[in-house]
Amino acid sequence: MAASQDGDFSVISEAVPAASADTAGELYLAPMEGLADALLRDILTRFGGYDACVTEFARVSGTLLPHRFFRRLCPELAQGSRTACGTPVSVQLLGSDPVCMAENAAHLAELGPWAIDLNFGCPAPTVNRHRGGAVLLAEPELVHRIASEVRRAVPAHIPVTAKMRLGVDDPAQATDCARALSEGGVSRLVVHARTRADMYRPPARWEWIGPVREAVNLPVVANGEVWDRRQWARCREVSGVLDVMLGRGAVADPLLARRIRGEVGQGEGWPLVLSALEEFWLRVLEALEPRHAPGRLKMWLGFLVRGYPQAGQLLSQLRAEKNVGAISSTLAAQRLLMRQRADGVHPSEQAGALVG
Ligand SMILES: Cc1cc2nc3c(=O)[nH]c(=O)nc-3n(C[C@H](O)[C@H](O)[C@H](O)COP(=O)(O)O)c2cc1C
Repeated sequence: MAASQDGDFSVISEAVPAASADTAGELYLAPMEGLADALLRDILTRFGGYDACVTEFARVSGTLLPHRFFRRLCPELAQGSRTACGTPVSVQLLGSDPVCMAENAAHLAELGPWAIDLNFGCPAPTVNRHRGGAVLLAEPELVHRIASEVRRAVPAHIPVTAKMRLGVDDPAQATDCARALSEGGVSRLVVHARTRADMYRPPARWEWIGPVREAVNLPVVANGEVWDRRQWARCREVSGVLDVMLGRGAVADPLLARRIRGEVGQGEGWPLVLSALEEFWLRVLEALEPRHAPGRLKMWLGFLVRGYPQAGQLLSQLRAEKNVGAISSTLAAQRLLMRQRADGVHPSEQAGALVG
């Protein structure tokens, strides 16, 4: 990673190759609707350590989504379905009608996605009411038809993958659904180790991922409640699965993938994160109306609070602030303060320590 000594994130254009780590197993950045959009995917993958990431879901319901919709959801399609630093991006579809899903997948395939991912995990009532997401896990036959129709419609060189929860309310449903997906032709399966009824309540039930892995003959990726290196190791130990997908933990600590790979130590990294936050803010200002911009910044800061005490201080300074100019000034002042500290008082905080 070409980070400058003072932790200037803007100079990073190439992520650390994910394969550079001596850690066995792949790391994926999870799809997160309303959170991990193209902008945050770009920033997070530039921190390095990810093998691939996934877009937010595209809801398929009765119509053919136009190419411009897919291009907006996944601007990375214009650059070979990769983020600016080269991390591959899958495009995720959510829906329950096998024929309509297949038609949309074929239409999307014309744009050259790195892979097409099918969502069987969304627990949102508005989505589930229309028979989309995790409720489909009660119907393994339908799950199978969706996967096989999509697989048939998409050119063989584009992988079709899936992401599922353990079931609607019983984790014992997981193996039937996983088999249905495997027999339907998906080539990788992410298992979020909760049922729909569990919503996002901890703990994740990593122990149920092992039986899924044993039931199918395809790569399985473990997901759910991995916030640090220790939990990553424990998740792999309990599930017996080597590859892990990181969701909220990746937003809370943009350096999580690199910490897992042993390239960045615990407690290091705030200067780089602050610089990334500034870049994120500038890009949010370009992309959104001023009244919507502060909310986006505070949403990310709200996650960062979990891993960085400095983010908590910043958030309390900004919480009530709606004026974009004042927010820019606060960020700039933080940066100045940090530079001054890096020049003398807290050398351990220098981002140069991160350069792997
Ligand atoms: C805000 C938010 C949005 C999400 N959107 C999606 C989505 O679009 N597609 C999907 O498959 N999963 C989605 N998920 C689920 C995550 O991909 C992941 O499975 C879940 O957060 C558990 O992983 P974690 O504990 O590492 O966060 C979302 C999760 C969150 C918190």
